[in-house]
Amino acid sequence: MRAERNKTITLSDEERENLKADIVTLDHINEGSGFDNTTIQADLNDVLPLMPDDFADLVIIDPPYNLTKEYNGTRFTAMSNDNYEDYLCSWFGLVCRKLKPTGSLYICGDWKSTAVLQRVIEQSGLTVLNRITWQREKGRGAKMNWKNGMEDIWFAVKDPKNYYFNVEAVKMKRKVIAPYRVNGVAKDWVETEDGNFRITYPSNFWDDISIPFWSMPENTDHPTQKPEKLMAKLILASSKRGDVVFDPFLGSGTTSVVAKKLGRIYCGVEINEEYCLLAAKRLRMVHKDKTIQGYRDGIFWERNTLRVQRKRQLKNDQKHKIR
Ligand SMILES: C[S@@+](CC[C@H](N)C(=O)[O-])C[C@H]1O[C@@H](n2cnc3c(N)ncnc32)[C@H](O)[C@@H]1O
Repeated sequence: MRAERNKTITLSDEERENLKADIVTLDHINEGSGFDNTTIQADLNDVLPLMPDDFADLVIIDPPYNLTKEYNGTRFTAMSNDNYEDYLCSWFGLVCRKLKPTGSLYICGDWKSTAVLQRVIEQSGLTVLNRITWQREKGRGAKMNWKNGMEDIWFAVKDPKNYYFNVEAVKMKRKVIAPYRVNGVAKDWVETEDGNFRITYPSNFWDDISIPFWSMPENTDHPTQKPEKLMAKLILASSKRGDVVFDPFLGSGTTSVVAKKLGRIYCGVEINEEYCLLAAKRLRMVHKDKTIQGYRDGIFWERNTLRVQRKRQLKNDQKHKIR
């Protein structure tokens, strides 16, 4: 039994049967089905050779980290850094071939594997443009070490002279701690009844995103689900409406769900059927709800501002009604 406020997305047996219609398998691909707006249930290694090269404008990779972890019955076992590098290399070059010459790629990892990730990206011929650090709240404490509170997201492109990046689409609304005035006039910030705010450009340190938890409508039981807000930043900055976003380790479907909400074409590969079905359910839910928690009015809001965001939404709705 789950608590009443628990919004975790689950599947009934009936839904499982019904959602299977939304999943593409290797058989479908061999019969000539395309890749646009697909959730492919397959081992990435089997499907990559069947996919066209240069089809994706944006690739987002959230692979199993080098940790022992259970993915719905399949265990990924921690290995030496050298072996993890071999594992990444076994598919990374092939995934890069799916990226258009003007495309961008993001790959996630933790502190332990981040040096390996950088090496693998650079060896593949891509140019690293940045390393984003996401400060997460959750993390297991350790008695003889610092608790891990971060993840890295490497940003790389095929052609550093020709790639798409829209920083205007990922601006943030931040509380102003020390409001500064010139001749009594607010300098680069606005005063509202909910507090003082500044609209700023994002840096490569992200501290405004929480891990999905049970009271959030995007939450599933996937053990390493990424937040929709995080994917929204990557997708808005590095793709346009109508572009193709490819995720080779789709998990519970976050990349595809956000791509769909933002009017992009999605394609995701996931080996586990249950996770594909969860992704399919979430993708169907987009028809009813296109909101992304923490992203409203074209702006990314700080953590714990839902109350202010809702208040603002209410006011906007009332304004429209009066008109
Ligand atoms: C870190 S999780 C991705 C989580 C995802 N970003 C989300 O928001 O739910 C990695 C996923 O890769 C899947 N996976 C592992 N090996 C795979 C393979 N060879 N082919 C396809 N999927 C694989 C796992 O089942 C797992 O769901």
